[in-house]
Amino acid sequence: MLRYLTAGESHGKYLSGILEGFPAGVKITREYITAQLRRRRQAPGRSARQARETDAFEIVSGLSGNITTGAPISVLIPNASRDLPLPSSLPRPGHADLPGMLKYGLLNAVLIRERASGRETAMRTALGTFAMRLHELLHININSRVLRLGGLRTVTAESAAAELLRARRAGDTLGGVFEVTVENLPAGLGGFSQWDQRLGSRLGAALMGINGVKGFEVGGGFCLAAAGGIEVSKAPELSGGLDGGMTNGRALTLRCAVKPVPGLPGGTLSTDLRNFHKRLSVSKTSDTTAVFAAAVVGEHAAALELAGALLEKFGGDSFSEIEGRVNVWRKKTGKTLNRL
Ligand SMILES: Cc1cc2nc3c(=O)[nH]c(=O)nc-3n(C[C@H](O)[C@H](O)[C@H](O)COP(=O)(O)O)c2cc1C
Repeated sequence: MLRYLTAGESHGKYLSGILEGFPAGVKITREYITAQLRRRRQAPGRSARQARETDAFEIVSGLSGNITTGAPISVLIPNASRDLPLPSSLPRPGHADLPGMLKYGLLNAVLIRERASGRETAMRTALGTFAMRLHELLHININSRVLRLGGLRTVTAESAAAELLRARRAGDTLGGVFEVTVENLPAGLGGFSQWDQRLGSRLGAALMGINGVKGFEVGGGFCLAAAGGIEVSKAPELSGGLDGGMTNGRALTLRCAVKPVPGLPGGTLSTDLRNFHKRLSVSKTSDTTAVFAAAVVGEHAAALELAGALLEKFGGDSFSEIEGRVNVWRKKTGKTLNRL
């Protein structure tokens, strides 16, 4: 079973993570991991903090040279910004602060926000690079793009830059929609016998687990509700690559709606839990949007879930074992799929 855990706070010493159940024999370089972390950190719309963070990392175990050993992979990412914000009894609306303070009986919102922060997704991305690399070696291509940025429906580098500048000048933040596509997945990953084997439910959990993600759809998603069965039957790509909770040999298409970043430079009215006075909760250091960074995290979260499903289907402790089994399966299922 492939599983992972992360720990650490936004301004603590390190983020740490463990990936267990990953096969031996997967070649991965520091440059590969660095490049993936950079894509998340330097995504459009991020704040000035990202210029200070380097996402320098240390692989503590699970690698011999550039090759995985099959042992648990543990990773450390030191935080460059270590100055813990001053204690605050003012929860930031739209964040984990209020429910977290109630849940743990705390009057200091900083103790909640430090762990609930989007910074944690740096570690999910780092662990996901191993899964991304496994897929790459099996010729499975995982990509993402931003389809919507706020009200902008045609998102190019230029239109996004202009929209982000407009929002920043207006003291506003933006949400958006990102899409993750996966090509060349073997058919038959996942399962239909139990709800929690269905790959859609597993991928949904992984992607909805990204901070700020409020919507998830597969293929035609919410549009399918308004379409007729005749129309849908003529467009099998609308299944988004999943039928009955399993990969069907077509490209997987997953889409997520990300809410606008709740931290506003002009502030949001909140209530101080110490004296119940109303005050503005002001965020001067927030990102303008998280959607571009979340798209990169989405690729890695999906890669981890799909690597787990792949290992369940094919087993094997080393890359060569898995590769051999995937090739045999592709040959066998290809005989049917190519004739449809
Ligand atoms: C990569 C990333 C960066 C984020 N940066 C910020 C930020 O700078 N300021 C902010 O208010 N929210 C930011 N968010 C969003 C919050 O983490 C998120 O809205 C908050 O945790 C509540 O989300 P939820 O309602 O989905 O739990 C970021 C999210 C991600 C994934």
